[in-house]
Amino acid sequence: MTASTSLPMDNHWLPFTPNRQFRHDPRIFVGADGMHFTTHDGRQVIDGISSLWCVGAGHNRKPINEAIKRQLDTLDYATAFQAGNDQAFLAAQKIAQLAPGDLNKVLFCNSGSEAADTALKVALAYHRARGEGHRTVFIGREKGYHGVNFGGMSVGGLPANRKAFGAQLLPRVDHMRFIHDPVNHAYIHGEEPVWAEDPLLELEQRILPLHDPSNVAAIIVEPIAGSAGWYIPPKGYLQRLRQICDKHGILLIFDEVITGFGRLGTPFAADYYGVVPDMLNFAKAVTNGVIPLGGVICRDFIYDAMMNTQAPEHAIEFFHGYTYSGHPVACAAALATLEVMAQEDLFARAGEQGRMLGDALHSVIKGLPGVVGIRSLGLAGAVELAPNGSAPGKRAFEVFRSCFQDGVWIRPAGDNLVVCPPYIVSDAQIDQIVSAMAKAIRQHA
Ligand SMILES: Cc1ncc(COP(=O)(O)O)c(C=O)c1O
Repeated sequence: MTASTSLPMDNHWLPFTPNRQFRHDPRIFVGADGMHFTTHDGRQVIDGISSLWCVGAGHNRKPINEAIKRQLDTLDYATAFQAGNDQAFLAAQKIAQLAPGDLNKVLFCNSGSEAADTALKVALAYHRARGEGHRTVFIGREKGYHGVNFGGMSVGGLPANRKAFGAQLLPRVDHMRFIHDPVNHAYIHGEEPVWAEDPLLELEQRILPLHDPSNVAAIIVEPIAGSAGWYIPPKGYLQRLRQICDKHGILLIFDEVITGFGRLGTPFAADYYGVVPDMLNFAKAVTNGVIPLGGVICRDFIYDAMMNTQAPEHAIEFFHGYTYSGHPVACAAALATLEVMAQEDLFARAGEQGRMLGDALHSVIKGLPGVVGIRSLGLAGAVELAPNGSAPGKRAFEVFRSCFQDGVWIRPAGDNLVVCPPYIVSDAQIDQIVSAMAKAIRQHA
């Protein structure tokens, strides 16, 4: 049992956390450096999930901290409407240079959830600007996660996230089937599984005819389903999705909030899979997590269509934006983060350490009692556990708690254990994380 805390516990309602359980078993961080947290009771805990896919370069990176401090002393904040700031232009340029193809126009926001809603709104506005305002159907995928705002939640497909809010989700949204084959591809080790069947036939033969493709505004997917538990698409899936969208004039949105900025060993999953979407959502690792920043990178033709308006030049072309869009401190943090990533070649390192992580997960954990699948690609992996009787998710939660006691922070996602360490993770630290997982899995078999 974790030592109790003298902190006031009565006011902070924790997000996506079992608050009742937390009160008698608090997990509180008071410091972080490199790969480790310091807990309120003075223990060191290795960050096995990059603080939820954010901290690619590791914690407490001085160049990023210094850039933020400098920016605070130079331009702390400036309104984002009818004005810009130098850091936002520079960060947008840097991000566009990293993005593939003609993904060149960056709309900043503050989070992945806002990026999802921003991208959906761009899709509607773009079609309307071209005289196709009837294109209002959105298609997501079962078990997809695009944040918690109403747009992202509507195209998302995690049942627990939708259950309480069903009546108020967006209308005219459909979902493609989930991409998981637990019979033939329970174990995936660094490759793209080759499926005998085509999971996109359902989109072509049922979903699109049902709505009529001419009514569909956009299809949004995570290239790899992350929050659900690191589910990897079958070989050719994203390429086929691209072709289907092209055939019908449907915009393709990749939600790269967790795959963006190096997780697969490439700048984006779009690079890994060789598919350029029409919009690419990002957040998290862009600032190493230290300051909230998100955004949507749009291809040139979307921006051009929105600018090609008969409205007078003083008129705003897109009625959307946030007070903190392109916040100078967040953009300075992004520039410093991407500089650190480049100088230390961290995207490539994520690819290399990803192979190590996959090897370790498959060699140490495959075959342990209760393990029914392992999926690894890039510097991330998931171990799927058989649910514990009538309590889905309980075994994964208990394994997560035991790992924490053992000084290792992983993430329970339903019956999956997800691990996605910072790109700086060493071989020995990968061993430590995977050994702790194995020990806890045995303990809770
Ligand atoms: C793919 C994806 N989209 C959107 C989000 C939401 O991001 P945020 O929590 O910053 O709103 C997440 C968060 O994990 C995510 O994984």
